[in-house]
Amino acid sequence: MIRIRQLRKTFDGTGNQGVTALENVNLDIGRGDVFGIIGPSGAGKSTLLRCINMLEKPTSGSIYIDGTEITGLTKRDLRVVRRQVGMVFQHFNLLSSRTVYRNIAFPMEISGIPKTEIDKRVQELLGLVGLEDKASAYPSQLSGGQKQRVGIARALATRPKVLLCDEATSALDPRTTRSVLELLRSINKQFGLTIVMVTHEMQVIKQVCSRVAVIENGGVVEQGSVQDLFTRPGAEITKGLLAGMDAAGFMVDTSKQRRDFEGLQPRGKEAIKNVG
Ligand SMILES: Nc1ncnc2c1ncn2[C@@H]1O[C@H](COP(=O)(O)OP(=O)(O)OP(=O)(O)O)[C@@H](O)[C@H]1O
Ligand SMILES: [Mg+2]
Repeated sequence: MIRIRQLRKTFDGTGNQGVTALENVNLDIGRGDVFGIIGPSGAGKSTLLRCINMLEKPTSGSIYIDGTEITGLTKRDLRVVRRQVGMVFQHFNLLSSRTVYRNIAFPMEISGIPKTEIDKRVQELLGLVGLEDKASAYPSQLSGGQKQRVGIARALATRPKVLLCDEATSALDPRTTRSVLELLRSINKQFGLTIVMVTHEMQVIKQVCSRVAVIENGGVVEQGSVQDLFTRPGAEITKGLLAGMDAAGFMVDTSKQRRDFEGLQPRGKEAIKNVG
């Protein structure tokens, strides 16, 4: 479904101080996979995701989606490909002056889809993400989890083949995180949609992903099934990420995660059951 070969991305810095964000990245993401990309801050996760929909143009290397090399496409062809790749953001990126309905309709409006068709699809999507009663609400009137459901519905509006999620649950509390991850999982199952999930939380990988790549300093250090990663981590960084998970399955190495964790009451047996 997605094939990445020898991908390299550098950013020009001031003077000679360029940044190599990605170096020799090779990845194969299968159709229908929920593929996790995990690594520490600055590893290149977002850059990698943004290369997959060409929000960022690779410096060299190639990316194929469904056999089409997107790295060499003209602007016009690229627009067609972009419609096949939806994206969900950490901070939702909703349009505050538009209602839920019109946020979801937005990508269809700019694709010139007829109004009656848009209406049908928006109703369908509202049902899918469980927000039928919020159609005329504005983003400021929604909880974080509801906003992300709108973000997901909007990303699915043009029926993409691939959904890219960049830290889609990082702004949400643990319980809301679980429900949003469950929604993504059920969409994956129901439609066979391929999902690529960037995260720095092992708990996210554990809950929804089937396969995973670990990246560090712009390179893939390990990739394989999630089960293998948890039972036989190879790279030091992976061991570190696993060791950083506490008994409830949450990493506690950033202030946000620590806050989330402290918000959790001890859950006795349940917390212990969650390990490994
Ligand atoms: N537009 C840009 N211009 C210059 N450097 C950039 C740009 N975008 C990213 N970088 C650099 O590329 C590297 C990778 O950044 P990236 O945002 O992909 O990391 P990340 O793994 O997503 O980190 P985080 O977990 O903090 O989101 C970093 O060194 C970053 O400073
Ligand atoms: Mg990032």
